Amino acid sequence: MLKIEMCGISFKNPVFLAAGVMGETGAALKRMAKNGAGAVCTKSLGLEKRSGHRNPTVVEVEGGFLNAMGLPNPGVKEYIRELEGIRDYLKRIDVKIIGSIYGKDPREFSEVAEILEPYVDLLELNISCPHAGGGYGAQIGQDPDLSHKVVSGVKDSVKIPVMVKLTPNVSDIKEIAVAVTEGGADAITAINTLGPGMVIDIRTGRPILGNKFGGMSGKAIKPIALRCVYEIYSVVDVPIVGVGGITTGHDVVEFMMAGATAVQVGTGVYYRGYDIFYKICKELEEYLTENNLKIKDILGKAHEF
Ligand code: DHB
Repeated sequence: MLKIEMCGISFKNPVFLAAGVMGETGAALKRMAKNGAGAVCTKSLGLEKRSGHRNPTVVEVEGGFLNAMGLPNPGVKEYIRELEGIRDYLKRIDVKIIGSIYGKDPREFSEVAEILEPYVDLLELNISCPHAGGGYGAQIGQDPDLSHKVVSGVKDSVKIPVMVKLTPNVSDIKEIAVAVTEGGADAITAINTLGPGMVIDIRTGRPILGNKFGGMSGKAIKPIALRCVYEIYSVVDVPIVGVGGITTGHDVVEFMMAGATAVQVGTGVYYRGYDIFYKICKELEEYLTENNLKIKDILGKAHEF
């Protein structure tokens, strides 16, 4: 009942693990896959190893979390070993793998994409980290021309579907959505973290995060993510993967009504546990059954008004 098709790939359900959460190792991805995710996404991977920002890198705030990890990862070549260890198992239980990648320019993106391609089902281009600096992340995703170049470069380099993850921290997300689609994006993931924001320790006056500023995730950003999906759906034809504060089946229905074909869950894993994927799928299925609906009946429904 929850099976979906997206970018020519079939997924057993539309509830995926988002990038950056439980994606540091193969064992963590396997655990999320075992807990019912339709697809799992790696931590964002780059060409070279990065140790990331200094601690603390995550702090809980009202309605969610702020994080500034600083793109820590062992480098794409090293990370491939993690995927080799779980590939057969994931295939057996029909869970797809999304490889999240970052780079500082179109060439670097394409290089990482080519290295990772044989080990994943889809790629997700992270052009939207709000605090990466150095030309990475949102510095690309806030610039329509540069975003277009990154996407078209990767599309020329690989055959598997390419999703592009957008930042909400722009004045018009529709403009970026159109640019990446014209660059050849097969799907759009919306949204990355909001902000950045900050928290200060009032005993010392010191900003809590090692990086001072971090991107906001969790329940509080859901209305913004929903509006972004709704706006993107109104201007492009490619499938949209909604992400931002999703913790229940009710949330998924809202995102689908805004125009999302699938969703990703990140911070929600902290709120409801590893089995959040099973829980959300059950709630979504109950909603559809009780209302005698199929997913296709609710996709984009909010645009009728
Ligand atoms: C990080 C945070 C993000 O929001 C993102 O998209 C990528 C990386 C990080 O701090 O590692």
